[in-house]
Amino acid sequence: FAIYLTSTTPTDGYFGAIGTFDVYGFPKLRNGELSAASVWVQNSQKAVFNSTNSIQAGWDVNPDLYGDSKTHFFVYWTADSSNSTGCSNLDCIGFVPVNGAPITPGDALEPADGKTKITLKIFKKEDDGDWWLYFGYNVNNLRPVGFWPKTIFTDMADQATSIAWGGLTHSNKGKPSPPMGNGQWPGQYSASVQNIQYVDKKGQGLSPSGWRDSLVALAPFITCYRASSVVDDMFHYGGQGGCTIFFNVNNFW
Ligand SMILES: *[C@@H]1O[C@H](CO)[C@@H](O)[C@H](O)[C@H]1NC(C)=O
Ligand SMILES: *[C@@H]1O[C@H](CO)[C@@H](O)[C@H](O)[C@H]1NC(C)=O
Repeated sequence: FAIYLTSTTPTDGYFGAIGTFDVYGFPKLRNGELSAASVWVQNSQKAVFNSTNSIQAGWDVNPDLYGDSKTHFFVYWTADSSNSTGCSNLDCIGFVPVNGAPITPGDALEPADGKTKITLKIFKKEDDGDWWLYFGYNVNNLRPVGFWPKTIFTDMADQATSIAWGGLTHSNKGKPSPPMGNGQWPGQYSASVQNIQYVDKKGQGLSPSGWRDSLVALAPFITCYRASSVVDDMFHYGGQGGCTIFFNVNNFW
């Protein structure tokens, strides 16, 4: 993976996160391979590694899940570090889609000219306390997709302790990992995450200028995947892959 993660928590906690992602058509992946980019909102009590509450939304290419190598819109949740609770998309009870949504979790995204952008906003609404997800192809026109009810979580009913953005890949043990982003090193022509903001209690997005120091890059496999510095409210990430990686990112923090 190659991500930016917050290393500190505001006094009130986090109430969501925003990100705009480049979405690409993808070289064909095989079964056992996964390449994704997403925004995470989570609550991890660091002493208890099996109890991370986490939600995620973004795009993924995942032949095991979809039976094809297209780029899909996905959501994910867990209340115990992906041990026995949670799932992707609508594969279990958890995420509740709403009527009139612009997209359904699991739908294929079809990038025009091989590329498009999607903006995702996760935030905990003050009135019902649930974690809502908004989606749009235009950052100024976000519409509700659905929500994760606060009742499915053990530690995230009130707020979250960290947020993150970036790319993630997976391959079967001993097999080379697939490309991340668009397969390019971070730079002008690579995949980016823009509009990175956190959401406060009132649902307001805050740009990194006031909290940039909290952001740390995690890119432990630099021979395969890298992330650029954060400039203004964006960073680039990606790489061609080819590493053998054994652990699940959900168990890492
Ligand atoms: C975490 O692991 C401990 C020890 O194995 C267990 O007692 C506890 O129920 C687990 N918690 C969750 C949320 O699975
Ligand atoms: C994972 O879930 C199983 C079944 O609910 C439980 O028995 C086990 O203790 C859990 N493992 C951890 C590490 O929490």
